[in-house]
Amino acid sequence: MTVRVLGIAGSPRRGGNTETLLDRFLIGAQSAGATTEKVVASRLQVTGCAACDGCWEDGQCIIHDDYQDVQARLIAADVIVLAAPLFFWNLPAQVKAMIDRAQCQWARKFLLKRPLPPTPAGHARRRGVFISSGGEDHPTFDGAVRTVRGFLSLYEADYWAELLYGGIDARGAIEKHPTALQEAFTLGTRAVRWENITPP
Ligand SMILES: Cc1cc2nc3c(=O)[nH]c(=O)nc-3n(C[C@H](O)[C@H](O)[C@H](O)COP(=O)(O)O)c2cc1C
Repeated sequence: MTVRVLGIAGSPRRGGNTETLLDRFLIGAQSAGATTEKVVASRLQVTGCAACDGCWEDGQCIIHDDYQDVQARLIAADVIVLAAPLFFWNLPAQVKAMIDRAQCQWARKFLLKRPLPPTPAGHARRRGVFISSGGEDHPTFDGAVRTVRGFLSLYEADYWAELLYGGIDARGAIEKHPTALQEAFTLGTRAVRWENITPP
């Protein structure tokens, strides 16, 4: 079974810095033999969590929108790559809504004690990657990293690697970075070959 890579493009700016990096990562992953797919948060209908606690009963969200489809893809993926810029030291609202909806997975994992099945490729633990950029020269990614770590862990994905770039603001700025595109490509190949690296 080939490794499946799910990329989540979290910026509302299509073709912007983080989506460009995500695309490079996915091309690298394909070159190493993976099946890849990409969901674009800003194109989906995903509302925020209603905090109704409805999922505490059976782990199912009472809101029916595109999140159910995203969730099925998250569970089937071996590698989950979330690419999103810093917005006010955290993530854009479109992808944050998706993350908040993972509350139903929190209920399944911690309240109902229902473990996720292994992926179709046989991995019990998934691999998580966070790609981000910020316009400040030395932005703090701490808030976003913490959010992404929490989200990935609910889907049994280890926080395996991150690519975080400061001083990247205008559309296309990442293409002038001396190493970023190659780093994203290489990381995509290494993720799929299931290489071990020192986790961040
Ligand atoms: C609403 C908004 C909030 C932002 N907040 C931050 C921030 O807190 N820190 C930062 O370094 N850059 C911030 N930026 C700049 C973006 O993170 C930066 O331009 C990024 O490279 C955009 O990536 P993208 O092209 O993938 O959307 C913000 C931009 C916008 C539009």
